[in-house]
Amino acid sequence: MNSTLQNWLGEQLDTLKEQNLYRPLVELQSPQGGRITVNGKRVVNLSSNNYLGLANHPKLKEAASKAALEWGAGAGAVRTIIGTMTLHEQLEERLAKFKHVEASIVFQSGFTANAGTIPTITTKDDAIISDELNHASIIDGVRLAGLPSDQRAVFKHKDMDSLEACLKRMQGFKKRLIITDGVFSMDGDVAPLKDICDLAARYDSAVMVDDAHGSGVLGGGRGTAYHFGVHQQIDIQLGTLSKAVGVMGGYIAGSARLRAWLTQRARPFLFSTAHPPAVVAAILAAIELMDTDPSFTNRLWENTRYWQTGVKKLGFDIGETETPITPVITGDEGKAQQLQRELFDEGVLALAVVFPTVGRGKARIRTMPNASHTTEELDDALAALEKVGKRLALI
Ligand SMILES: Cc1ncc(COP(=O)(O)O)c(C=O)c1O
Repeated sequence: MNSTLQNWLGEQLDTLKEQNLYRPLVELQSPQGGRITVNGKRVVNLSSNNYLGLANHPKLKEAASKAALEWGAGAGAVRTIIGTMTLHEQLEERLAKFKHVEASIVFQSGFTANAGTIPTITTKDDAIISDELNHASIIDGVRLAGLPSDQRAVFKHKDMDSLEACLKRMQGFKKRLIITDGVFSMDGDVAPLKDICDLAARYDSAVMVDDAHGSGVLGGGRGTAYHFGVHQQIDIQLGTLSKAVGVMGGYIAGSARLRAWLTQRARPFLFSTAHPPAVVAAILAAIELMDTDPSFTNRLWENTRYWQTGVKKLGFDIGETETPITPVITGDEGKAQQLQRELFDEGVLALAVVFPTVGRGKARIRTMPNASHTTEELDDALAALEKVGKRLALI
């Protein structure tokens, strides 16, 4: 092994640890759920994106097992060779119908959907304008588009004056693409999509919404664009199949032309193997549940209101959230990690989020109530939060 590389790795890791930025992986020793097993201990789980509790739902597991027996364990090829099975086609049609748009295309993950789509729909003559708090996969997608810095602009978070100033600056370029998260993943606030669409229309700009945290949550599960009634005005909606849907993958929903172009040019679609049949069948089962049974989203929102009222009443700062994502902000990185450790001792898993996932000095534990939590579980978590919060003088 090369000692220069090994020494460098050692130094980097030491630096992260000294700055309280090193995060050991947490091993989940049970299926996802309201209460899970970690380090042999049963704890209330406030850290998954399993919004609707579907990750371990019997209907999804049954669909996955049946598809594996009928279609096999793997797709065997990329979509553009011979990896497109009947199930993949069915899923894309089902997703388009669910989202009330013409067409959809599925990628291996939400991350690859961003990284694959953004460079594929822009050329060197175009400009990209992005909210400053957009997700890392959007940032990487923009990097892959390879535009020079004067063709990339970042507007202040949800600030429409700042967006308009960027649009004015970019008027000389051929196409303009505004990209925003629908729901911002670390703060839980929602993009002002109506205002963004109005500005986009005035400045002849396309709009792309990354709705990883809006899908299954807002608009009766159809997402942020549907919630605001602008799903026909948004050119590109990205969703994940890994969070509320409970399985794995990402998709783009939009026009039939957009889908057709991405099938020809999006690099992860062309050069990475298609989802296994079990994954696709489980997603289809999840979409069916989301489309026909509102009790999942209703329960999610009931639990969200209950949790956020309780946390605020204790005196914690939960920022500007409008969705189930509930940051409990400590600011200090060390405090967030101490809160995580002591909550775990009290039977609650709520992972700390520190730089670079959020800015320095904006550390928090990110708590996520979901539809599978019982009131008893949320009460246990609130009691633990009160005890530890007082002990650490956070409240
Ligand atoms: C806003 C946003 N976009 C995209 C992704 C990536 O989705 P996936 O986990 O399906 O790759 C995430 C997930 O972390 C996200 O929060």
